[in-house]
Amino acid sequence: MNDESISVTSSLIHPSHSASAGFTGNAVGASPSAIPRAAVLRFRCISIRAAMRGLSLTARLISWRQSMHRIKRSLVPTLLFLAAFAAMALGLSVLRKSGRPTGSVEANETAEPDGLEREPISPLPRTIELDSRKVELGRRLFHDKRLSADNSVSCATCHNVRENGADIKVRSAGMGGALGDVNTPTVFNSGFSFRQFWDGRAETLEDQIDEPIRHPAEMATDWPQILNKLQADSEYVAAFSSIYATKVESRGIKDAIATFERSLITPNSRFDRYLRGDSQALTAEEKEGYRLFKESGCSSCHQGVLVGGNMFEKLGIVRDYFADRGHITKFDFGRFNATGVEENRFEFKVPSLRNVARTAPYFHDGSARSLDEAVSVMARYQLGRELTATELHRIVQFLETLTGKSPEGVP
Ligand code: HEC
Ligand code: HEC
Repeated sequence: MNDESISVTSSLIHPSHSASAGFTGNAVGASPSAIPRAAVLRFRCISIRAAMRGLSLTARLISWRQSMHRIKRSLVPTLLFLAAFAAMALGLSVLRKSGRPTGSVEANETAEPDGLEREPISPLPRTIELDSRKVELGRRLFHDKRLSADNSVSCATCHNVRENGADIKVRSAGMGGALGDVNTPTVFNSGFSFRQFWDGRAETLEDQIDEPIRHPAEMATDWPQILNKLQADSEYVAAFSSIYATKVESRGIKDAIATFERSLITPNSRFDRYLRGDSQALTAEEKEGYRLFKESGCSSCHQGVLVGGNMFEKLGIVRDYFADRGHITKFDFGRFNATGVEENRFEFKVPSLRNVARTAPYFHDGSARSLDEAVSVMARYQLGRELTATELHRIVQFLETLTGKSPEGVP
């Protein structure tokens, strides 16, 4: 069904911003590679020199050895060879490491003609190369209610992949109607996110799955229960034996579901077409909205391929969001719950703004009902700015251009 193809490199999945990448004020789209060029060059020279010195030394030793004829077949030549090899390998690996930032500096210097290199946002890949058998298996599992204790809830109950990859509720209801702790994020494009969950407590899509399975307000079950049910299903048994050469087990289930989620990309938004050089793809007002988005500092946090999803930031940097909102709960502590580190209190994964026009309500607490409301809260609490009605409207118009093509092939 879904055999679209191109590969997603790990650099796309893990953008270069580290978890601790701080708020960079108005350093819009600052390149992380700008600093270390001189250091890198120096490092490179030193490592070349070290490697050369190693080589010439070994060469000299070898000729000395040869002139000292007759210690043949001893360990010495082997050791020398190994030493020379190790010196080269070390030199090469240092070079490769130091070469990376240099490469991106060079790329910045020879920016693409349409200026794409200088934009803080990059387009989503148009297609993605995945094993279509795993995608199909993952799709079935994602929609399978037997993944919950009383067979009433599937992943798709809260993450409707025919709509927006989430639902439209402030907090979703899981098994027995129990309400979740925070607003449900979309699973669309989640394969590009540097961590999963609002507080980033899961590293990968595979790791993420253990939580909804166990969570009492989601599926309230465990792996033995699930495996018991699915191992009795001959279609799953056949699929697992042909794809994984195993019986139905949790590792394959996670792999298939995560692969399905990675297939849920929303390419070809008008904004991506604009980034790829189609200047007609946006109206003048939308372009003005994008300019305001960058100029006012939104893109210092919302950037990269997801327009977010690559760093943690505090909610309420400039003004105290939680004091103004009131009734603080544990789930407002954000990243602090995952790390226990005081300075992570109230920090959240900066969410992706891809398809944001379709994923209301907004924020981890689902408190903003409309995009207008979310944007003005952001301007006030993250940037200390009151936007005029026109500015607000332009930014929202720009955000609406981030809606891409819905993932296809959902039964
Ligand atoms: C009862 C509703 C519900 C069910 C069922 C559910 N989820 Fe979620 N999902 C949520 C909520 C709420 C969050 C946010 C939790 C948090 O960040 O602490 C979430 C977060 C996620 C995320 C992280 C997205 C991001 O951007 O951080 C992924 C991926 C995900 N769910 C996939 C799944 C999968 C796969 C299943 C089935 C195994 C599933 N969910 C079942 C409600 C649900
Ligand atoms: C200092 C970093 C930072 C800046 C600057 C920033 N944001 Fe955010 N943004 C965040 C974080 C963190 C969240 C998640 C907050 C939460 O829900 O707890 C967020 C959430 C959002 C959301 C809600 C998304 C969703 O799915 O719930 C929107 C919309 C948004 N930001 C737009 C903007 C706009 C527009 C600007 C500029 C006016 C902006 N942001 C500036 C960090 C930032």
